[in-house]
Amino acid sequence: MKLKALNGFKDILPGEVEMWQAVETTARQTFARFGFSEIRMPVLEKTELFARSIGEATDIVEKEMYTFVDKQITMRPEATASLLRAYLEHGLNVQKPVQRLFTIGPMFRHERPQKGRLRQFHQMDVEVLGADSPLVDVELMAMGAMLLDQLGLSVSLELNSLGCPDCRPAFREKLLAFINERSEALCDDCKRRSSTNPLRVLDCKNRDCRHQVEDAPSIQDHLCSACADHFQTVQNGLEQLGVKYSLNKFMVRGLDYYTRTTFEFITTDLGAQAAVGAGGRYDGLIERLGGPAIPGIGFALGLERLILLLQQKDASSSASHCDLFVAGLGEAAATLAFGLVHALRGKGLSVLMDLEGRGLKNQMKQANRAGAGHVLIIGEDELNNGQAILRDMVSQKQQEIPLPGGPGLDQQTTIDALLTIING
Ligand code: HAM
Repeated sequence: MKLKALNGFKDILPGEVEMWQAVETTARQTFARFGFSEIRMPVLEKTELFARSIGEATDIVEKEMYTFVDKQITMRPEATASLLRAYLEHGLNVQKPVQRLFTIGPMFRHERPQKGRLRQFHQMDVEVLGADSPLVDVELMAMGAMLLDQLGLSVSLELNSLGCPDCRPAFREKLLAFINERSEALCDDCKRRSSTNPLRVLDCKNRDCRHQVEDAPSIQDHLCSACADHFQTVQNGLEQLGVKYSLNKFMVRGLDYYTRTTFEFITTDLGAQAAVGAGGRYDGLIERLGGPAIPGIGFALGLERLILLLQQKDASSSASHCDLFVAGLGEAAATLAFGLVHALRGKGLSVLMDLEGRGLKNQMKQANRAGAGHVLIIGEDELNNGQAILRDMVSQKQQEIPLPGGPGLDQQTTIDALLTIING
C-alpha cells in the first residue's frame, strides 16, 4: 500500500518552505512595528468554544469541524476563539487595558479541497482587544494593506459594517421580507439560511441567488447613529492614510461573531478562493465567552493563498540560501575542510560541503544546485601551496585564500579572510 498524505493536507517541501519563512518574517516585522506580540495556542480546544463563538448555525460549526465526538474536543477551525480563550484564561485583560496579539499556525476545516482551499491551512491572525475606537479598525486594515504591499501583492480591500445588536434586528426583518418574496428562486442552502441567518443569503456564491439579491436593502443604510458614526470615521481614517477600499454591502462573513466593521482582502488571481484575508470587529464576543464587556477586532491572512499568489508572480524566488560551498578533494583536504566548514557555520555563514568524496565536477554541480554565492576549492596542489582558491559564483572571479598549516597560519586566518570577502 502506498502511503500518502490525506486529501486536503499538504506537505511543504524544501524549495517552497523558504517562501513561507520569508512571508512569515515580513509579517512578524510588520506586526512588531504596529506593537503586536506573539501568542501561541494549542490546536485542540473544547468543541463548545467554537460553537459559542463562531456560531451554531455557521457552515464551519455545522459541517466543517474536525471533532472528536466522544471527547467533545475539536481541532481549531480558526484562531480568534482560541486566542480569546487564552486571553481570558491568563488574565491578559488585567495586565494591560489594550492587548495587541498575533499568532501564526495551522487551522483545520473539512471543506472540499481545491486550489487555495485546504483542510489543513495556515493563518497569520492578529487581534486587538480592549479598544473600541474606529481608528483601531483603520490601523488594522492599514497594517494588512501595508503587509500585502511589502510582499509585492496587489490586493483590494472591501469594507462593510454589520451594525450592532441595536440596529441589526430591524435590518434583518427588512431583509427577510425582501428574501421571502424571492425565496422560490433561491438555492436550497439559502432557503434554509433564510430562517437561521438571512444575512448569509447576501453572500451566497450561487449565481442565481446573487442575481436575486442584487437590489436587496443595504445594511449600510440601516445603521443606528452610533454604528453609522463609527463606519464614517473608519472610512475617513482609511482615506487619511491613503488606504484604497471599496464598499461591499453583500459582505457578511461566514462567522457569526462580527459587529460593525467587516473587511476582506480580495484578489482576482485565485479563481473562486478570492479572499486572501478577512476579519472585523466582534464587540460582545468576549462577554459571550464568559469575560467582561471588552471590545475586539482582528483579521487573518491565509498563508497558502499568499504563497500561491507569490508563486504565480515569481516562481524563482524560493531558492535556498548558501553563502559558501567548500570543495575538498582528497582525504587530507576533506579533513581540513570539515573543520573549516564547522567553524564558519559557527560564525554565522551558511556553508555546505560534500561528505561522500566525490570529484570536483560533481561538487561544482552541487554548489550550483544549492545556489552557493562562493566556492572554496581545496585540492592537493592547494594544500601544498598553502593557498585555497575562492571563486565568486556570480562574477566567476577567483582569488587565493591562505590555508592553515603554513608558517604562522592557523584556522582563524583562513576564517577571517573568508568572512571579510563573503560578508563584504
Ligand atoms: P475566515 O474568513 O474564515 O476568517 O478566514 C480567514 C482567511 O483564512 C481567509 O480569507 C482565507 O485566506 C484563509 N482560509 C480560510 N479557510 C481556508 C481554507 N480552507 N484553505 C485555505 N485558506 C483558508 C477567520 O478565520 C476569522 N477568525 C478572521 C478573524 C480574525 N476575524 C477576526 N479576527
